[in-house]
Amino acid sequence: MDVFEAISTRRAVKKFDPNHNLSSDEIKNLMEHVILSPTSYNQQNWRFVYVTDQDVKDKISVAARGQAQPKDGSVVIVLCGDLTAWKTDTLRYWKNHPKEKQDIVKAALERKYTTDPKAIRDEAIRSCGMAAQTIMLAARDMGLDSCPMVGFDYDKLAKIINLPETHLIVMMVVVGKKIEDAPPRGGQLPLSDVAFENSF
Ligand SMILES: Cc1cc2nc3c(=O)[nH]c(=O)nc-3n(C[C@H](O)[C@H](O)[C@H](O)COP(=O)(O)O)c2cc1C
Repeated sequence: MDVFEAISTRRAVKKFDPNHNLSSDEIKNLMEHVILSPTSYNQQNWRFVYVTDQDVKDKISVAARGQAQPKDGSVVIVLCGDLTAWKTDTLRYWKNHPKEKQDIVKAALERKYTTDPKAIRDEAIRSCGMAAQTIMLAARDMGLDSCPMVGFDYDKLAKIINLPETHLIVMMVVVGKKIEDAPPRGGQLPLSDVAFENSF
């Protein structure tokens, strides 16, 4: 599918076919593309828990205050930030480049994050936001739809996915086969209200 078509046909779908499944190869192909999403310094600080088990999806729906998308979707992808990625074995992020480049990146990561937990958290949210959009556009290319979600009880979801203490849940994205169109768009702001040439 053409990228512009994927962008314009992506909607937050609420009703998915509960009988539709994705094969492990389809999920692998999706996730292999998702991890090509950009991250600052290529630190790849996202971690993804992809849930296909119906019992776990049911539990996630309960944690999502009864919303049906997780239990009916084919896969629920929980996007998490690893808050230690900036300092964990960082040379691997540039392993295809010369050692000098790897050392420069390591030093830059340490300079930026060592004393700034907010910057670490912001980076996790940015990275997961980028990856979420990749998931949703790739889903369109696969003939599927998606729903991005933050309407869930954080602690309950953390328990369900066994979230490590060093990680943050940013959001989840449900991917599946829609059985009902999303409601009409809420109402997009005019471009002139949100986009400004050269300065505000
Ligand atoms: C970060 C985020 C969280 C969202 N959480 C939920 C949610 O919990 N449940 C839901 O039904 N939709 C959720 N949505 C979908 C939005 O309501 C939807 O994207 C918005 O109304 C625009 O509609 P569209 O995506 O169909 O263009 C969320 C969207 C985003 C980006």
